[in-house]
Amino acid sequence: MKDNFIHKNNCRICGASDLVKILDLGEMPPANAFLRKEDLNKPEPKFPLVVYFCNNCGLLQLLDVVNPEILFSHYDYLTSASKPLADHFTKMGLELAEKFIKSKDDLIVEIGGNDAVLLASIKDKCRVLNIEPAGNVAEISKQKGVETIDEFFTEKLAKKIFEKYGPVKIIVANNVMAHIDDIKDVFRGVKILIGDDGTFVFEVHWVGNLIGNGGFDQIYHEHLYYYSLLALENLVSQFGLKIFNAESVSIHGQSLRVYVGGRNFSVSESVGQFLEKEKELRLDRAETFLKFSERAKKNREELQNLLRRLKQGGKKIIGYGAPAKGNTLLNYCWIDNNILDFITDTTPLKQGLYTPGTHISVVSPEKIKEVNPDYILLLAWNYAEAILEKEKDLREKGIKFIIPVPRIKVI
Ligand code: TYD
Repeated sequence: MKDNFIHKNNCRICGASDLVKILDLGEMPPANAFLRKEDLNKPEPKFPLVVYFCNNCGLLQLLDVVNPEILFSHYDYLTSASKPLADHFTKMGLELAEKFIKSKDDLIVEIGGNDAVLLASIKDKCRVLNIEPAGNVAEISKQKGVETIDEFFTEKLAKKIFEKYGPVKIIVANNVMAHIDDIKDVFRGVKILIGDDGTFVFEVHWVGNLIGNGGFDQIYHEHLYYYSLLALENLVSQFGLKIFNAESVSIHGQSLRVYVGGRNFSVSESVGQFLEKEKELRLDRAETFLKFSERAKKNREELQNLLRRLKQGGKKIIGYGAPAKGNTLLNYCWIDNNILDFITDTTPLKQGLYTPGTHISVVSPEKIKEVNPDYILLLAWNYAEAILEKEKDLREKGIKFIIPVPRIKVI
């Protein structure tokens, strides 16, 4: 892509033009574009953030695509910084190895394997290869002893991998399938590598969770697709591949884990059952998403009123976790450094930086004890259970946590 961003007019899976505008979150900087202090006075690039629903194939999606070089060539997000996530992927790696790996020569490739949490956990059981386009993160993966190619995964790269390493037993792609504009190129590459016998396994945020127990803040420029199994079936079947198993997994609220293979796989009952559940939830109807949009607007109003009231009452408020989703929430709700004194985050790469658009300083969690806030806005709400347990002491001291979405809770 030559430009900084392009606007599409057709559904990215089926090509239809019958698209319904669901929610306009306004113009925003990319959610992971954290700023250095010296950049605070420079103009920040902002792009429209609007979600649409395809009336033909049921895919919820963005049509404004930010150049992936801007979004992904440097990345401050590390899987290893969120313990529940790191535990989840370590477990997944071991499960996949147990189920599919038969010999030490078998190869597992991970697309966007970040700092190699999953691959490092199984590198003594088989050959592993990480395809990680963010140079700074790829470096960390290499330091963990995982062979890493510092490029975007494409059909062209798949051909080179096949020539050099041969067929692949398993390809994994967790939380990246929503990020890739030319997803069809990825499937063409996957097909080359797995042939008829290999398996492609990926996890995506599930759209049923987004509009149910999740929050509008999971919408940001990196997430071009908000998948249902229904929409994924339409996509996968275009490549002579099939979804042979589908599971709901409890990470990021509720995610969808999908297993794809060639003609040698038989389809488990779980697939039909999941599709049935999605029909019952009416995930194939625009009205369902329009109702979600109305709730998001109300959610914003209530959160703004609560924070304004607390601030007027002289309360000290800080943020907890600086995830990408937090930046959608802060920008959409206009919560800036007049409201939050700072935000803590466990990711060393984010500490010392400022949130995009709202310019709130990101610091180490150590700082909480120094300032004794009255309220903590939990931006990493998807880890609420683990965080509330970890921070029992703060709650015992009377500090209250505000969970902002999908309905505000103060606990
Ligand atoms: P996450 O919700 O995984 O992602 P996204 O960026 O996709 O919205 O990010 C969670 C962030 O919260 C990450 O920057 C690490 C941080 N974090 C903490 O600061 N403390 C914690 O205890 C946990 C679990 C996460």
